[in-house]
Amino acid sequence: MKKLLTMVVLGAAATAAQAQEVKGNGDAAKDKVAMCIGCHGIPGYRASFPEIYEVPLLGGQSAKYIENALKAYQKGERKHPTMRGIAATLTEQDIANVAAYYSQQKAGTQNNSLK
Ligand code: HEC
Repeated sequence: MKKLLTMVVLGAAATAAQAQEVKGNGDAAKDKVAMCIGCHGIPGYRASFPEIYEVPLLGGQSAKYIENALKAYQKGERKHPTMRGIAATLTEQDIANVAAYYSQQKAGTQNNSLK
């Protein structure tokens, strides 16, 4: 019994050590991505109607780029008011997840399933 307890404690310590690094998980991004689709369109799809402001394509961009962009909106280094409002609602983990999700998309291909 004592041995089992030691194993449990060691296991918990290992889990805590792993949790320090924020790792993106595309599958966990689904609820957050639902919020982006209205403007960023179907992942990998670009709405090119000229009167609507151009919303950048996110699908296929590097995770680091997306992450940096969202953090820049949070800090106010990027000024777009709507994106600033949205970025403010995201945690660091959300950003990592969303970045992983979009970087796994193929650029320029249409894929409207939230896989
Ligand atoms: C209300 C519309 C709207 C919504 C909703 C929205 N965005 Fe945006 N997003 C924009 C616009 C417009 C821009 C371009 C702004 C600019 O020029 O800085 C942008 C820019 C970005 C950029 C920078 C892209 C680049 O190429 O520089 C990222 C990353 C981004 N959005 C991520 C997201 C994520 C993730 C979500 C959902 C959590 C989201 N956006 C929701 C409108 C939106």
